[in-house]
Formats: sequence, structure tokens, C-alpha cells
Amino acid sequence: MAATEQIEIRRLDRAEARAQLDGLAAVLADCVAGGASVSYMAPFTHEQARAAFEVVAADVEAGRRLLLAAFADGTVVGTVQVVLALPPNQPHRGEIAKLLVHRSARRRGIAQLLMERAEAEARAEGRTLLVLDTVTGDAAERLYARLGWTRVGVIPGYALYPDGRPCDTTVFWKAL
Ligand SMILES: CC(C)(COP(=O)(O)OP(=O)(O)OC[C@H]1O[C@@H](n2cnc3c(N)ncnc32)[C@H](O)[C@@H]1OP(=O)(O)O)[C@@H](O)C(=O)NCCC(=O)NCCS
Repeated sequence: MAATEQIEIRRLDRAEARAQLDGLAAVLADCVAGGASVSYMAPFTHEQARAAFEVVAADVEAGRRLLLAAFADGTVVGTVQVVLALPPNQPHRGEIAKLLVHRSARRRGIAQLLMERAEAEARAEGRTLLVLDTVTGDAAERLYARLGWTRVGVIPGYALYPDGRPCDTTVFWKAL
């Protein structure tokens, strides 16, 4: 990706999410192949990644989740979700999930653009409190701290890397 390339962030409805399934799946599969701890274990196929985003597309249609994607020259290079379907006593809250940028597009500020838009979209949906968790010590943890999120603490051995090694998780929150 050229440094001057324009990045477009779009909120996807169900139709566009379905139209972009291969691009979204390619980003997820690339992140897992790169060792990211984002729910899935290796080996993780493109078809499995597509199936994961088909569920997300259904959630988008039902209003349970927001889905954003970053495009470079019409190709999906990054994505993030905001979970809106939470218990009745937490109508003001949302959860950030699956912030993913393809390895070929990293360190260009795309994750920051995705997060800024995700926060704005969550606010537009009436959400005033967001939470997330992320692998301790990775690039994402620095990003969230830089964007003003408050670090709650670390849960040791919370999840596994795709190769089965355990990883610690840091929990964050942000008031919008
Ligand atoms: C975490 C992740 C989303 C970050 O994506 P990204 O688009 O590379 O993020 P950004 O470009 O906004 O920031 C990453 C770094 O690039 C730097 N950067 C941003 N723009 C830059 C530019 N134009 N030139 C040089 N560096 C730049 C940032 O300062 C940051 O530096 P740091 O790592 O030293 O803090 C990506 O690494 C990823 O997908 N990881 C795997 C999945 C994952 O762990 N997701 C989080 C789950 S909660």
C-alpha cells in the first residue's frame, strides 16, 4: 500500500457486508495466520473466516452489531465491530470486537481511523460507554491507550494464541 493511498472507512449494512464477505474473511484469516489471538485457532481457513462474517452480517441486519470496514482502492484492508446486543440493564453500553488490519496494510493509521469511526458510530447509536479486551503487550494495547481508553487491568492466561500458547488479556473502557 502506497503511503499516499486514500483510506475510506465505511459502515456496512447487511447487503454490503455480504458483498464484502471475501474481503473481510481475507483480513481475518491473515490476522490469524499472523498469530493474532482473536477467537480462532490454527489452522483457520478462508471458508471458516467467511462463515464467521456471515454470522456478523446477520447480526448487523438484526441491529445487534455494527460492522465497519476500511477500504484501499476498493479492497478491504481492515475492519472492526461494535456489539450492541447487551442485557436490558446496559442499554448505554457497547463492546468493541475484532479490530483487524491486514498485515500488508499495518502501521499506516488504519486501526486508529477504524476506532475513531467506531466510537463515533456507537455514540450516534446512543451508546455512552464502551469496553474491550485485548492481548496484553501487543500493538492494539498501545493503540487503545493512545486513543484515551482507560486500562482496567490484566487477566493472566485469559485466552490462547492460534498455536495454543496462553496469552494475557488487558481490559479497557472509554466513556464517550
Ligand atoms: C492491532 C492492529 C489492529 C493495529 O493496526 P494498524 O492499522 O497497524 O494500527 P495503527 O497504524 O493505527 O497503529 C499501529 C502503529 O503504527 C504507527 N503508525 C501509524 N501511522 C503511521 C505512519 N503513517 N507511519 C509510521 N507509523 C505509523 C502507530 O503509531 C502505531 O505504533 P506503535 O505500535 O508503536 O504504537 C493490527 O496490528 C492487527 O490487526 N493486529 C492483529 C489483530 C489484533 O490483535 N487486533 C486487536 C484485537 S482487540
